[in-house]
Amino acid sequence: MITTNLNKAKEYLINDEIIAIPTETVYGLAGNAYCETALKKIFTLKKRPYYNPLIVHIKSASSLNTIASDIPEIALRLAEEFWPGPLTLVLKKQPHISDLVTAGKDTVAIRVPNHPIALALLEQLDFPLAAPSANPFGSISPTSATHVSNYFEGKLDLILEGGECARGVESTIIGFEDNQPVLYRHGSISIEEIEKIVGKLIISVNNDSKPNSPGMLSRHYAPITNTFLTNNVPELLKSFQGRKIGLLLFKNEILIEKNIIQEVLSENGDLKEAARKLYAALHRLDKSDLDVIIAEKFPNEGLGKTLNDRLQRAIKK
Ligand code: TXA
Ligand code: MG
Repeated sequence: MITTNLNKAKEYLINDEIIAIPTETVYGLAGNAYCETALKKIFTLKKRPYYNPLIVHIKSASSLNTIASDIPEIALRLAEEFWPGPLTLVLKKQPHISDLVTAGKDTVAIRVPNHPIALALLEQLDFPLAAPSANPFGSISPTSATHVSNYFEGKLDLILEGGECARGVESTIIGFEDNQPVLYRHGSISIEEIEKIVGKLIISVNNDSKPNSPGMLSRHYAPITNTFLTNNVPELLKSFQGRKIGLLLFKNEILIEKNIIQEVLSENGDLKEAARKLYAALHRLDKSDLDVIIAEKFPNEGLGKTLNDRLQRAIKK
């Protein structure tokens, strides 16, 4: 059921049930972070492997100390700058944080979401919410309540309606190694924005052999349709003549032809707008019974790096 009833949502969570909640990045599948029953329900419904840890959502930076310890000064600076907002900090965990949340690591991922409904809900609860993105493991993240209900038809009792997600891609994840900030996942806040606050970031994404952030396995965020990423869409199009093709384009339509569906993400070339619309466009293309999706590479700067990262992972290996 898709609803705006906050009291009902609260009741579910207090009873160790899980629900979907809106955030400014993507919808999350939320449960009481202090309750193992609820945590297990998250993993089961998502078909998520237990080695992939969860993000704990808190109502404000003032509750950080209840979850994390030994917090570096730079982490506090980042929290002050970007919370509430799409930044996740990986910090040393407090001993009471469940191994189910952290996948047995001694660190825990934490963020304060910037969505009025998520914040209102957190405000009314006396526990934080563990919430991965509300999609089956490996598939495209949901940016609307309908995306969530399409995924979990009949298996999830309550989806809180919060409109379309304003950011549209997941939070940026930053950890700390020897007190140096390290990027574990490209996200909705660009590297450049973070470097303005902390100076040079160490980049540690894309690491299948040693996944710092196991959600960053190379194939992830993936549509079912075979997907390609290219700088030269017209050229690649030639090799799929006669097939049903979906084009995912940054700012310009390229040609109108039968058998080709086009999704243009931002006519003004605005990367923020493209980020907001990316997953919804991928969901639509994936449901269009296509032979192939061809996605155009974004300029490799700012949010463009995040969008290229997501598309790279959408490609079937
Ligand atoms: O924007 C977001 O972050 C959304 C919304 C719902 O908040 N959540 C989200 O969660 O994207 P999920 O579970 O899809 O991705 C969480 C990522 C995974 O890549 C996971 O490996 C990483 O966070 N992570 C969690 N705990 C970690 C830890 N202790 N160390 C390193 N990475 C961690
Ligand atoms: Mg996810």
